[in-house]
Amino acid sequence: MKILSVFGTRPEAIKMAPVLRALAAEPGVDSRVCVTGQHRQMIAPLLDFFGVAPDADLGLMRPGQSLNGLVSGALWALDEVLEALRPDRVLVHGDTSTAMAAALAAFHRRIPVGHVEAGLRTYDSGHPFPEEMNRRIVDLASDLMFAPTARSAANLAAEALEGRVLVTGNTVIDTLHWATARLDADHALRAKVDAGLPRISPGHRLVLVTGHRRENFGDGMANICAALLGLSRMDRTQIVYPVHLNPNVQGPVTEALAGQPNIHLIPPQDYVAFLRLMQRADVILTDSGGVQEEAPALGKPVLVMRDTTERPEALASGAVSLVGTDAERILSATLGHLERLDLGGRGPAPVSPYGDGRAAARIVDAVVGREVIPFAPSAPPTLRAA
Ligand code: UD1
Ligand code: UDP
Repeated sequence: MKILSVFGTRPEAIKMAPVLRALAAEPGVDSRVCVTGQHRQMIAPLLDFFGVAPDADLGLMRPGQSLNGLVSGALWALDEVLEALRPDRVLVHGDTSTAMAAALAAFHRRIPVGHVEAGLRTYDSGHPFPEEMNRRIVDLASDLMFAPTARSAANLAAEALEGRVLVTGNTVIDTLHWATARLDADHALRAKVDAGLPRISPGHRLVLVTGHRRENFGDGMANICAALLGLSRMDRTQIVYPVHLNPNVQGPVTEALAGQPNIHLIPPQDYVAFLRLMQRADVILTDSGGVQEEAPALGKPVLVMRDTTERPEALASGAVSLVGTDAERILSATLGHLERLDLGGRGPAPVSPYGDGRAAARIVDAVVGREVIPFAPSAPPTLRAA
């Protein structure tokens, strides 16, 4: 059975890696990997760390290209790959334009599509944009939908889609378990990773920041930067911000924050280095989806700089709250968390609503036709930060 996995962006690489490792270990499966080349600089070290070697790289990245430019280029390029490889199934991940284009290209050729991380919804096509529309289109085109949670499976059931829905857990938790185990077992790796990270003075609190959503470009980014400037002026507080390579993020963030005391702007980090930063953080500020899934398992408080989230389980876990992009609100919510810690409070208890580390095994079971025992979020927490 020939399986073609297609992806191009950082979150897809992190979340498809365990599936690719499980497919490679499966007798009778010929697993091929096609990357679009969009986040090549950001995903090359990730793929290397996970031991994944792409079979094809479509080289689709063009500076400043429109979503229509990207999607049309992807459809043409993927059609050629499908013609050459003739896979029995295509696997895509999540909600990117890559996933949408690959699902559509496979559908047009009547090749079955499996959707990893199916069923996430805000039911607001402007938030996140264009991801909410992308993931709905992918689910329409899929005959196998791998829903991470019962909640995402319920969304799909309510939409009465044609494909089969399986609750697998989110593969990001497989990745988190795997990378945590590697860090725990390999002291030299941990020392090397730590040596590459900014030094945080003893007694200082670490606020970790990421942000790159399209709907936050412009005013949203300006507000976030204003909040971070305010925060950097507080006693014993240091901010570490790995800045996404998108010029719409790099430009305003560098202009507002470069050279400011207590703010460390650093390049996007390898997965293990970012995991180490999450482990060490006192509070995480983000608009990322993946971080909302990882942080509850690590027992870290997360403030999400968005107005909506498709991850209600993270909110219910108590680790994650929505703060939007108002500068005052971000600042006061962060200070509230830091004050609680100063008063001897602990972070949220680690919980794992998103998986038990066996999502990839369930996905491969379904792909090859074995019975799948669904994920139920009862596994004991194991990942309290070192
Ligand atoms: C990506 C997806 C988008 C998806 C979104 C959220 C693509 C091309 N974009 O957009 O469909 O909705 O994630 O899931 O699939 N850059 C580099 N090097 C890198 C990465 C980015 O130089 O490794 C720069 C380039 O100038 C590029 C720009 O960043 O033009 C934007 O990258 P893009 O992938 O469009 O941005 P995302 O917001 O991550
Ligand atoms: N991440 C990383 N390096 C960084 C910042 C984030 O490896 O410098 C990881 C993070 O742990 C999470 C994923 O990237 O697993 C999130 O990716 P991103 O924010 O690009 O996308 P989203 O999850 O919002 O789709």
